[in-house]
Amino acid sequence: MPSPPPPPVTVARVRSWKHEPAPFAMLTAYDATTAAILAEAGIPLLLVGDSVGDNVLGHATTVPVTLEDMLHHTRAVARGAAGSLVIADLPFGSYQVDVDEGMRAALRLVKEGGAHAVKAEGGTRVSELARRLVEAGVPFMGHLGLTPQSVHEMGYRVQGRGPEAAEGILADAQALEAAGAFAIVLEGVPASLGKAVTDAVGVPTIGIGAGADTDGQVLVVHDLLGLSPGPPPRFVKAYADLRGVITDAVRAFADDVAAGAFPAPEQRYE
Ligand code: KIV
Repeated sequence: MPSPPPPPVTVARVRSWKHEPAPFAMLTAYDATTAAILAEAGIPLLLVGDSVGDNVLGHATTVPVTLEDMLHHTRAVARGAAGSLVIADLPFGSYQVDVDEGMRAALRLVKEGGAHAVKAEGGTRVSELARRLVEAGVPFMGHLGLTPQSVHEMGYRVQGRGPEAAEGILADAQALEAAGAFAIVLEGVPASLGKAVTDAVGVPTIGIGAGADTDGQVLVVHDLLGLSPGPPPRFVKAYADLRGVITDAVRAFADDVAAGAFPAPEQRYE
């Protein structure tokens, strides 16, 4: 008899992983097919990142991604991701004007998109939004360190170098925890700061370029699968070369077509 599917991942379970010895995995997903594969493979957290902008939609950064883009991709992931917790990014411009606007955007991602939780970039400056969302029943994930929506201000540089900058990130993490965030992504910070923040807060931290001591690790799925062009950044490990696999497959198809070898008799209806 096939074993029953594991129970769906809840925010309460994610919180409890703070006390687990083994770190947990989160991956980005932008479509239903990939979400289903990742969920079946046992990835408990699927992030519909605004990195959909640079990985799928052809933008240079995440900045142009709209709330409608996020709704479209969140719906697809939610349809495919049976059992995994789906977290959707609040895109740039949807929560910067005021808290009410951020609330409305987050509620749309949950109600219309099917997300179980939302994520926004920033610390103290988004803590009131986090507090209001949690109060309204929307689980909130923080994102500190290198925050790609601020690329025009900070570039893609490691953040939190030096005592003052590190203190700022630590204080931001504590502000997010106090506001009720259930987990905090730490991106592009020195490994020592990744550990310091992880030790200082009672909610799980999820690192990307933040060293080995965070409670979880996240990667952009396109980077992990080797779909992204060019050499990957230092913090990425490509576990496959799907770009190479796809290139070889489509070239073989085009060659077969040119040679009259496709369709072969077995691909024809007689
Ligand atoms: O949008 C995204 O992919 C993210 C991850 C880098 C954490 O926020």
